[in-house]
Amino acid sequence: MKGIKILGTGVSLPPKVVTNRDLESTVDTSDEWIVDRTGIRERRIAEPDVATSDLCAEAVEHACADAGIGTGDFDGLIVATSTTDTLFPSTACWVQRKLGVKGMPAFDISAGCSGFLYGLEIAAGMIAAGTFRRVAVVGGEVMSRVVNWKDRGTCVLFGDGAGAAIVGPGTGRSGILASNWGADGNLAPILYQPAGGTQMPATAETVAKNAHTVHMEGNTVFKHAVVAMSTAAVQAMKDAEIGPDDVSIMIPHQANMRIMEAARERCGVPREKMFSVLHKYGNMSAATIPVAIHEAREAGLLHDDDVVVSTAFGTGFTWAACVLRW
Ligand code: ACO
Repeated sequence: MKGIKILGTGVSLPPKVVTNRDLESTVDTSDEWIVDRTGIRERRIAEPDVATSDLCAEAVEHACADAGIGTGDFDGLIVATSTTDTLFPSTACWVQRKLGVKGMPAFDISAGCSGFLYGLEIAAGMIAAGTFRRVAVVGGEVMSRVVNWKDRGTCVLFGDGAGAAIVGPGTGRSGILASNWGADGNLAPILYQPAGGTQMPATAETVAKNAHTVHMEGNTVFKHAVVAMSTAAVQAMKDAEIGPDDVSIMIPHQANMRIMEAARERCGVPREKMFSVLHKYGNMSAATIPVAIHEAREAGLLHDDDVVVSTAFGTGFTWAACVLRW
C-alpha cells in the first residue's frame, strides 16, 4: 500500500453549456440518440481564448484553497492532458506561468483518459519515496478544439473541463491499496489525432482533411474499453483483497454510460454505488475522474476510510485502475 491522502480537490468548468438539442442544429443527430447511446445530455465548451492551462490553473487554485494551502505550496505539478496548449513546452509549464509559481518539477502525462490515474500513481510513488511532500495532479482538456464538429460520430461525445487534486502523505489508513495500469500501443490507430506531430506535420492539406481532429473507430474502442476497464479494476480489487461489498463508491472514467455500466457489472459493484457526472459534462477525457471525485465529495458521498474504486481507459490504448482508501 502507498500511504497518501487527497488533501483537497478543485475543478474548472467553462460556463458555456451546449445541449444535445443545440447539436441537432449542426449535425444530423437527436437528443434521443445521444442519450440512449451514451447517457450524455449536455457538455461545457470553452470560449476561444481559453486554453487547457487556463482551466488547469483554476482547478489547481481551487484545490489548493480546499486543501488549506497557498497556491503553489506543492513540490510537484503533474498535468494529464491530450489537448496540450502547445507541443512544447508542456501544459504544466504554462500552468506554472499562469499561477505565478516556479521551482517545482512540472510535466505532462500523455495517457488520454487514463491520465489522471497515471498521475495519481506517479504522485503516490513520489510521496512514498519520501522526496515530495505534496504533489498537484490535474487532468484538463479542451476537447472541443480537436473535435471535428461535422462528424456526428465523435462531436457529440466530448466536453471541456479540468479537475485537480492535491496529494500528500497518508493519514490513518488512507492510501492506494492497489492499482493496475498498463498500455497496448498496438491499438494506437483506433483512437488518435493523426496530424500535428512528427508523423504528419501540419500543412494546408492536413487542415483541409480535418486530420487535426479526433479519429476514432467507435465500436472497436467500445469493446476494448469495457474489457480493459473491468479487467484492471477486478485485478486491483483482488490485489487489494476487497470484494464488491467493500466498495463504498465506484468512480469510473466517464466516456459512455453503456461502457461504465458494463464495467461496473463485470466488477460486481451494485449500480447505486457508481457515481456519474457524464450527463452534465460528456467525456472530458483526463478531467472526468477528478471532476467526478470533486463532485462526489461536494455531494457528501466521500468520507474518511471509504473505499473508492476508479478505473479508466484511453487513447494509446492505456488503462488504469486504482483502489483508494479515502
Ligand atoms: N446521431 C445519430 N446517429 C448517429 C450518431 C449520432 N451522433 N453517431 C453515429 N450515428 C449512427 C451511425 O452512423 C450508425 O448509422 P448506420 O447504422 O446507418 O450506419 C448508427 O448510428 C449506429 O452507429 P454505431 O457506431 O454502431 O453506434 P454505437 O451504438 O456503437 O454508438 C458510439 C456509437 C457512441 C460512438 C459508441 O461506439 C461509443 O461510445 N464508443 C466508444 C467511444 C469512446 O468512449 N471513445 C473514447 C473517447 S476518447 C477517450 O476516452 C480516450
